[in-house]
Amino acid sequence: MRQFDEQTLTEAVVARLKDVKDPRFNQVMESAIRHLHAFARDVQLTEEEWFEGIKFLTATGQKCDDKRQEFILLSDVLGLSMMVVALNSRAAQGATESTVLGPFFVPGAPDYEYGADLSATATVPGEPTWVAGRVLATDGKPIAGATLEIWQSRADGMYDVQDPQAGHELRGRVRTNAEGRYAFRTHKPKYYPVPTDGPVGRLLDAMGRHPMRPAHMHAIVSAPGYQQVITHVFAEGDPYLDSDVVFAVKDSLIAEYRKVESPDEAKRLGMPSPFLRLDWDFHLSPADGGKTRQAISARDAVKT
Ligand code: BEZ
Ligand code: FE
Repeated sequence: MRQFDEQTLTEAVVARLKDVKDPRFNQVMESAIRHLHAFARDVQLTEEEWFEGIKFLTATGQKCDDKRQEFILLSDVLGLSMMVVALNSRAAQGATESTVLGPFFVPGAPDYEYGADLSATATVPGEPTWVAGRVLATDGKPIAGATLEIWQSRADGMYDVQDPQAGHELRGRVRTNAEGRYAFRTHKPKYYPVPTDGPVGRLLDAMGRHPMRPAHMHAIVSAPGYQQVITHVFAEGDPYLDSDVVFAVKDSLIAEYRKVESPDEAKRLGMPSPFLRLDWDFHLSPADGGKTRQAISARDAVKT
C-alpha cells in the first residue's frame, strides 16, 4: 500500500519498524509514533499549529550550548523529568526520596573537610547556616566515607554558574566521618526562577504559569555498596512549595532552617550569633547495580 489516510497511516509507519533489531528501541519508537499520531488526531492539529511547534522546537535547540540545556528545561517544566524520576527511582522503604537533578550540577566541585565553610567564597551576603546530619543505611547503620555533592542557589536566587564573574560558591563535595556524620557551613538558599529568557520561558508565560522553584539545597549522596540518591532538601515555609515549576517537591524532603539564638552553640560551632541550622539525615538503600549513577553520566554528556 502506498496511499494512507488518518486511519491507516499510523499502522503503516509502525510497520516500517520491522527491521529494527533492538526490541527495546522498537518498543519505544512504536509507542512514540502511536502517541504522537494520537495527539495530532486528538487536537485535530492544523498545519499552521504544527509549523509553530516546529519553530518552537527549533528555537529550543538553538538555545542550547555548553552551559544551557533548554530541552532538559522543557522536559522539567512539562513534568516529564519528574515522571522519569518516579518511574525509575522508587525509593526502598526508609530510603531518602529522589528528585530532579536540574541543570546547575557541576562535576568536579571542590572537596571540603568536615565542618568546612562552603560560603567562604560567596560573593553575595547570605544568612549563615550550619548544615549537619548523618548518612545512614535503611537498616539504621551509619555509613562512614559517604560522599555528598552539595549545591544550591545564593541568597540572590542565582547559582554561581549563572554568574560569569563567580567561581564555585555554596557548592562542594563533603564526606561523612567514621560515625557517618557530615557538617558544613553555608548560606540559606533562596527561591528562584528557572531561566525564562528562552522559548521555555515564553511557553510558561503562554500557559499562564510562574517560573519559580521553592528554596532548596541539592545533594547527590553516594557510598560504595549503596544506591546513590539525587535529591533536594526544601526549606519549610517557602511560598513556592505548592507550585514548584518543575513539580519536584516531596513532603519527605521538607526541613526546617531553625534559628539558633544561643551564643554558646554559635561559639562551639564557630558560627556568628544568631545563625540558622539545618539538621538532616540521608538514608541510602543497598546497591541495585548503579542505575542512578548512569543517569548522571548521561546528563554530564550533554554538558548541562
Ligand atoms: C534546579 O533545581 O536547579 C532546577 C531544576 C530544574 C530546572 C531548573 C533548575
Ligand atoms: Fe536548584
